[in-house]
Amino acid sequence: MRKPIIAGNWKMNKTPAEAKALVNELKPLVKEANATVVVCVPAVDIYAVKEAIKGSNIHLGAQNVHFKESGAYTGELSAAMLKEAGVEYVIIGHSERRQYFGETDATVNLRTLAAVKAGLTPIICVGERKEEREAGYTNALVEYQTLIALNGLTEDEIKNVVIAYEPVWAIGTGLTATDEQANETIGVIRAAIARKYGKRVGNAVRIQYGGSMNPKNVKGLMAQPEIDGGLIGGASLKAPDFSQVVNYDK
Ligand code: 13P
Repeated sequence: MRKPIIAGNWKMNKTPAEAKALVNELKPLVKEANATVVVCVPAVDIYAVKEAIKGSNIHLGAQNVHFKESGAYTGELSAAMLKEAGVEYVIIGHSERRQYFGETDATVNLRTLAAVKAGLTPIICVGERKEEREAGYTNALVEYQTLIALNGLTEDEIKNVVIAYEPVWAIGTGLTATDEQANETIGVIRAAIARKYGKRVGNAVRIQYGGSMNPKNVKGLMAQPEIDGGLIGGASLKAPDFSQVVNYDK
């Protein structure tokens, strides 16, 4: 009932020429995908990728968005700029932005509101650090991160949002949450949304898993009932790997 969504997060990788080459290699490999396919690319690659994906089933995403419409915010991009450039999805609150660039739950909320208002679909990242899991705070933390991020959206808007559960300890480490851990925590996120906004909303929102997802572990993760897709870092940088993740059900 929820259409799976597999998104690549290229992070700070690929020049425009490299981006074009990767997308051109990817297009034929994912054209039969049953999942929604997204690539979230560095801002300078947006134009090249938009041209390269024309006529394909690949959707274009960005990796961040500012919350103001315009103004003196050197280095930032507004939601309207991204929208006009052809972007459909935008990652918000990735743990690398929280860790290295001072992103907070409050700014994640502001960015989410700005993205939705401009017609972009946010991919909101939540997840615990290793010490938070070990201390038993995972559920409370992801509930809090999720509900703050969504605060101020309507129920219909929330239904269209994508959430990515990315345990920080599993990102780029080769460590993956077990299928059961990922399923359980995503279930906790969905239940929190359902408690606040109703079951219909909780059942509609798509929640991805992210953190060392790859061709080997994708099948097990995607077999879990709560997991609606993946946000893929390292394995999204090679067309054969990413296409195998996208085609996990083939
Ligand atoms: P890796 O797949 O490289 O662990 O990265 C996950 C991630 O952070 C996606 O946003």
